[in-house]
Formats: sequence, C-alpha cells, structure tokens
Amino acid sequence: MSTLIANLANRIIPRLLPKSAVLSRQIRNDRRELAATARQSGDPQALLSAQDAHVDEWLHADLAADWAKVAQLLDPIRFGSRSGAVNPGDQRALYYIARALRPRSILEVGTHVAASTGILALGLRHNGAQPSGAPPRLVTVDIMDVNDPIRGAWKRIGCDQSPSQFVHAIHVEDIVTFVTRPATDYLRNSREKFDLIFLDGDHSATGVYQEIPAAIALLNPGGLILLHDYFPGLQPLWADGAVVPGPQLAVERLCSEKLPVTVKPLGALPWPTKQGSNVSSLAVLCRA
Ligand SMILES: C[S@@+](CC[C@H](N)C(=O)[O-])C[C@H]1O[C@@H](n2cnc3c(N)ncnc32)[C@H](O)[C@@H]1O
Repeated sequence: MSTLIANLANRIIPRLLPKSAVLSRQIRNDRRELAATARQSGDPQALLSAQDAHVDEWLHADLAADWAKVAQLLDPIRFGSRSGAVNPGDQRALYYIARALRPRSILEVGTHVAASTGILALGLRHNGAQPSGAPPRLVTVDIMDVNDPIRGAWKRIGCDQSPSQFVHAIHVEDIVTFVTRPATDYLRNSREKFDLIFLDGDHSATGVYQEIPAAIALLNPGGLILLHDYFPGLQPLWADGAVVPGPQLAVERLCSEKLPVTVKPLGALPWPTKQGSNVSSLAVLCRA
C-alpha cells in the first residue's frame, strides 16, 4: 500500500509544482541515488585529450553537399520531433563528427528508432576505406528489442520500417550490429574496442556514472566519448526549461573523484537544432 501511495505521489506531485521545483526535486533524488552507488574507477589514458578535441573545426568541415545527400534519406517520422530521436541539428552534428574523426568503429548506447544509428553508419560509409583495410563497424545497444514488431518504438511512432529494415534501406546493414542488452552489461563484458562511443541510453545520473568508466575501458587510443543530454551547470538549454540532470551529475561525481576527464559541450551549432535555437546538448568527453 505504501508503495502504491509513493508511486501516486511521484506522479501527481510533479504536476502540481512549478517546473523549477520539479527539477530541484529530481536533482536531489538523483544526487541521493548517485551517492548510494559504489565508486567506479577507470583509466582515461585512451581518451582523446581536450587539446586534441577540435570540436569547432569538426563542425565547420566542408560537408554541406554530403549532408544534403544524407538528409534526403531521413524519413520524417523516424527523424521527427515526436520520434524520441536526437534532434535535426544533433543528427547533422553526429554526421560531421563521424566524418571529421574518421573512426573505424563506433559503439552506440541507445538505439531507439535507429535515427542516430543510421546517420553514424552513413558517416562511416562515406569515410570510405580505411588505410588498415578493416571494414567499418557500428554496434548499437539497447535494453529493448528495438526491432520488435509490436513493442518496438518504431511501431509506436508509426514508422513503416523497423530499425533493421531501415539500415538495409540505406545500405549500411553490413556495418550495423544490433544488440539487445543493458548498456553496462554490454560495456563491462565486450572484448571489442571502439574509436567513438555515443552514450544516449539510460540518462539517469547513476546509469551514466556507471557507463562512462566502462565505456572508457573500451576505447582505442585517441578514442572519443560523446554524451547526449548534457546540460552544463544543470541549466536549461531551450525555451521549454527542461533539464536532464543525469549526464552532468555523473561527470560531476567522476571529476570530484579525480578522474582526469573534462567535458566540451558542443554549445551553439552552425545550424538549427530545436525550439528555434541552434543549441545542442551533445558534449564531448575528453581527457583533461
Ligand atoms: C533517447 S533514446 C535514444 C535515441 C536514439 N539515439 C535515436 O537517435 O534514435 C534512449 C534509448 O536508450 C535505451 N535505454 C535506456 N536505458 C538503457 C540501458 N540501461 N541500456 C541500454 N539502453 C537503454 C531506451 O530503451 C531508448 O531506446
């Protein structure tokens, strides 16, 4: 009974409080849960250093013509604002980063409708052959079976192709591998290493706090971690006032534990993102 009341209170109270009070409550709860989580450790030696993370250069690369071709492949439902996918400006930023960094392998956490999956895979494809001759590879992990014909998010939002059918349609099926597994489970047990890891799965402080050190351990030297929903200073980025505190709180704790990492938020992009703005919540995690 007391759980029932607590659940009801958790649903009703946020509707009665002003947004700022709801956010403060969420941050307090997240901090409490984070503090109760066992300390994680890691060695960020493989992470790209902050001085080598030329984010501005990556975003200003001469890729407008290539991007225009990619944009033609973006089905409006899968990539639309109601799909739960990364917003249009972030989609473009992901493509530019995948092209600029020329990774051979990418790990994505949080497949959902596979919007970012498709774009990152196209980035790998358009980079062409690697000097090593190794084929490009993208592993995308989700706790849900994203291709499920009934429960898959693609079905709920009204897409006519599952993520798997979509990657076939855009001819990157040879690059993409779908994995259904909780992220930390995959990250802690994978033997494969990656050049770029995109974290867009569990956005809770505890979840991201556990994912980051495990992801760092899977990086090839000079590898990069990209965070989504990073709100610097826990301040809103858009007019709707929303803040996802988890990723910022997770990094805050890792830094307080002297893990030598730092975050470079992408900030204002050279193109629009959402809500009439060009601000992004993407952020690059680098070695301090
Ligand atoms: C915001 S969506 C990702 C959007 C996706 N990147 C796109 O652009 O289409 C977050 C996804 O993360 C998944 N997720 C949540 N917690 C997870 C976890 N602990 N491990 C793996 N995936 C998780 C959810 O099932 C959901 O599909």
